[in-house]
Amino acid sequence: MTGHFKDKKIVVVGGSSGIGLAVAKMAYDWGADVTLTSREESRAVTVAASIGASVKGLSLDIDDGEAVATFFGAFTAIDHIYIAAGSTKLGNVTEGDLLENLQAFNTRLVGGLRVVRACAQKINANGSITFTGGVSTDRPIAGAWVSGLGTASAEQLARVLVMELPHIRFNAVAPGYTDTPMWDAIMGENKTNVLASIAETLPVKKIATPEEVASAVLFLMSNNSITGEVIHVDGGLRLM
Ligand SMILES: NC(=O)c1ccc[n+]([C@@H]2O[C@H](COP(=O)([O-])OP(=O)(O)OC[C@H]3O[C@@H](n4cnc5c(N)ncnc54)[C@H](OP(=O)(O)O)[C@@H]3O)[C@@H](O)[C@H]2O)c1
Repeated sequence: MTGHFKDKKIVVVGGSSGIGLAVAKMAYDWGADVTLTSREESRAVTVAASIGASVKGLSLDIDDGEAVATFFGAFTAIDHIYIAAGSTKLGNVTEGDLLENLQAFNTRLVGGLRVVRACAQKINANGSITFTGGVSTDRPIAGAWVSGLGTASAEQLARVLVMELPHIRFNAVAPGYTDTPMWDAIMGENKTNVLASIAETLPVKKIATPEEVASAVLFLMSNNSITGEVIHVDGGLRLM
């Protein structure tokens, strides 16, 4: 599988942190020509340089349709795209401004579709686009309805787009609890304890690392016969 990546052009949308960063690092280690993005240009440049001198760091906010079109307009050909970009919005469904709450959903669904539209004719043969779903598709929890809708739509994109654009392989990775900076932002100093107690409830008794999720993403990129697939990296949470 590692041999697949030599000189392949890979774009990681949301590669400045967590799972996307792990994908960018692994692809680079396996010989790929990697471009990663952050909404903040200086962060993209710094993170890219921390991986390797040849890694490109560029700014991109997939909530901005014009920016997505311009960004991908600069590429002539791409082998694989991984879309990690996303966040969550916690809260009760009856509270807050509905459209504001749905912003995180729109980033995943509309943002993902913007990327697809912008690069649909630029993906090389056997190339792929991988979306990020999540365990909340199958195990929704109260207060995380935006996440559940967002992950389900990302996973469904991988299926419907195969029929629309069969020359591209579309897949999704569905992480369970994964130890990334996303949880630092949500749990703060409680993160270690909260994740440790969740780990105890899982069949595998551990929280996934970003690298474990990344290896599933690279597997999906590298296997030319896999399309319309969702790989779950959730420690067995869906079975509980
Ligand atoms: N960690 C988990 O347990 C878990 C579980 C299931 C699903 N997920 C999903 O997996 C994905 C990656 O999560 P993570 O844990 O690795 O989170 P993370 O560490 O917070 O990384 C999120 C990445 O997305 C980028 N991003 C956010 N909004 C963006 C936008 N509008 N346009 C472009 N880039 C954007 C961020 O870049 P900048 O902030 O630098 O712009 C960052 O690179 C997310 O979609 C998350 O919801 C995570």
